Amino acid sequence: MASILAAKNKTPLSGSVLVPGDKSMSHRALMLASVAKGTSSIHGLLASDDVFATAQALKQVGVVFSFDRGSWIVTPPAYFESPDEMIDVGNSGTSARLLMGLLCGRGIDLRLTGDASLCRRPMRRAADPLRLMGAKIDLIDDKLPAQIHSVAELSAIDYAPPVASAQVKSALLLASLCAKGSTVIVEKTATRDHTEHMLRYMGARIVSEAIDTYARRITFDGYQQIIGSQLNIPGDPSSAAFLLAAAAMIPGSDVTLKNVMINPYRNGFIDCLKDMGADIAFESVATACGEDVANIRLRYAPLSAISVPAYRVPSMIDEVPIFAVLAATLHGQTRIPNLSELRFKESDRLQSMANGLSACGVAVDILGDDLLIKGVAYVPGGGVISASLDHRIAMSFAILGLAAQEPVFVSGAETISSSFPQFFTTMQRLGADLRLMSESEPIRTGRHAGQGADFADAFFRR
Ligand code: S3P
Repeated sequence: MASILAAKNKTPLSGSVLVPGDKSMSHRALMLASVAKGTSSIHGLLASDDVFATAQALKQVGVVFSFDRGSWIVTPPAYFESPDEMIDVGNSGTSARLLMGLLCGRGIDLRLTGDASLCRRPMRRAADPLRLMGAKIDLIDDKLPAQIHSVAELSAIDYAPPVASAQVKSALLLASLCAKGSTVIVEKTATRDHTEHMLRYMGARIVSEAIDTYARRITFDGYQQIIGSQLNIPGDPSSAAFLLAAAAMIPGSDVTLKNVMINPYRNGFIDCLKDMGADIAFESVATACGEDVANIRLRYAPLSAISVPAYRVPSMIDEVPIFAVLAATLHGQTRIPNLSELRFKESDRLQSMANGLSACGVAVDILGDDLLIKGVAYVPGGGVISASLDHRIAMSFAILGLAAQEPVFVSGAETISSSFPQFFTTMQRLGADLRLMSESEPIRTGRHAGQGADFADAFFRR
């Protein structure tokens, strides 16, 4: 078990760092490459436990991987195989829901499970529409473990997901690759569209149209053959958010995060920073793998508390914990509305944030599905926080410690390897005084320490 002790940072953060590859795109790159015609090469793949779980699952159904000079080479199988052993995707909800979609129409039987956190999370939201397409998926109390049975054929559906979920949308699009007919998905509130971009990048025709300011309709014809491609994964804006928040909290900081994806459905946190008065700029804007990317520079400026508009929440859903931490350090009240979905993440994040902030002396209320934070310029700190198998809770409270009066202690911090194994070393490189309190130091030198080659090595040793 790893723990982090975070104490008030005495010096500003400064420097220019690379943020590791985007987690959402990394999962999609592995999955789409596995069903493409021909071999793909993936550069910048996130080297983390969650992505490892997807690669391991795909290996179990017959996909062949190799690693060559920093790139993952993915060769799809001639036929998918039913694995003998249960597929275990650990902590990764994206692996579970997207793999259900990808594999449910591929003529194989498989069992799918995860860790204690994932086995508590709802799976019916993906299984139900896949069942409407003809998939045969058994769940236990609507949760994992799942049993997926081979079926003769899938058929297209018209579907409006009841919750805003990119995972559900993506599961349906991946299933549509082997379904008869044209699938139509209507999103009342549009969600991250990386699957659509990557499908297009790999040669598919997919139509995505605005219905109104927030809603979109996606139309995707089945049985399309995507083509093996060179996929370059840019940096993860959700990981970048922790570094930006830290710099925004520590006076005098000036940091640049290189090659970060700036998809508008992921930019809610940055839009909030701008509304709060942050000095933040996108520099050297370019494209990678069908997505816009930029270097993000943030120079410290005093911020003011805001009320977050409800429409923005889906585009910052993974950043709510770190946003709540930032809000806690600003004098005044911040309200973040419509957070019901936070209850179904790696932990019940609404409750985890309320508990953790209270433990650090911040007044906080949950009003229905809204989080109300009464920020103070001097956060007392001193809390002992359990990460509860939730990487974003662990990182958020480590960052809070850098601005609090008393150190904050985070236990169970090894969960950070789900998405950002280099968190600790990257923060140190920017000048953060985080201390790792464990003998084995699994975050820094653990099985997926974060360098592509180490990660590949761990993968091929299994
Ligand atoms: C993800 C979608 C989001 C997000 C998760 C990654 C994805 O979940 O919270 O971390 O890669 O599609 P939902 O689609 O359940 O909102």
